[in-house]
Amino acid sequence: MALSTDKISLKHLLTVEALTDQEVMGLIKRAQQFKRGAVWQPKKSQYFVANLFFENSTRTHKSFEVAERKLGIDSIEFDASTSSVTKGESLYDTVLTMSALGVDALVIRHSEENYYNQLIQSKTVHCSIINGGDGSGQHPSQSLLDLMTIYEEFGQFNRLKIGIIGDITHSRVAKSNMQLLKRLGAEIYFSGPLEWYEQKFEVYGHYLPLDELVPKVDVMMMLRVQHERHDGKESFSKAEYHQEYGLTVSRSQKMKHAAIIMHPAPVNRDVELADSLVEGLQSRIVAQMSNGVYMRMAILEAILEGRV
Ligand code: CP
Repeated sequence: MALSTDKISLKHLLTVEALTDQEVMGLIKRAQQFKRGAVWQPKKSQYFVANLFFENSTRTHKSFEVAERKLGIDSIEFDASTSSVTKGESLYDTVLTMSALGVDALVIRHSEENYYNQLIQSKTVHCSIINGGDGSGQHPSQSLLDLMTIYEEFGQFNRLKIGIIGDITHSRVAKSNMQLLKRLGAEIYFSGPLEWYEQKFEVYGHYLPLDELVPKVDVMMMLRVQHERHDGKESFSKAEYHQEYGLTVSRSQKMKHAAIIMHPAPVNRDVELADSLVEGLQSRIVAQMSNGVYMRMAILEAILEGRV
């Protein structure tokens, strides 16, 4: 698909389904421009964005913060553990407060899937919402930075073969990525423990044993084992997982020469992939983290431009 030259404007960023193909490609293009040094010319002299993280985060939280600073936005920090959340204040009332204070947009990560429904239906809340991850639901900004990284490498998505491997059931990144990549023409293949694979994913691609998948795909998208969502019930040790479902060094040698390794991180080294592969030649894991800043600049610009 050709890149659009239109400026993108968004009210909220909640799911990838709500984005048109043109918006996805427009955001990728704009993120690439920011990476090359483009500067935002805001229509207003001051914008406030608050980062409300109710689940732990390093990359998403801090790359939104860096993106906000690079754009000259007034970034409002919020620590749930020292806020009135500790007195029982709900997410809705926290957001209502931010809106009353004049905050333009909120980046929210929360353990509840679709937490944003009540917020966007409110007539009193006027903030734009950027979903920084909702439970096992979606992670649209991660998906967009993943697509930017793939686009940088291959210049297109059509007929690219993408392997999504691991804890798919609990991965919001996987859900966002399978939807967007399929829509943009990529062929999706899944692998990993069958207990973390669901029939509903077959709409987007097909399950293959890992050793069949590895030599076939252009992108090995490894997923983090989400120990915190398994209630302590896992039927294999870390070493067993690595041997059976992980990208071991010997499996990596069966990859196509031009294939790349991706992982949203944090990586469980020597579980999802061998320690030595994380910063290896075929890995784009560090590039994903760097691209995250530029993609989040593009998202923030699109959201704030949409408010004027
Ligand atoms: N990839 C990702 O969402 O990382 P964090 O949980 O550190 O934000």
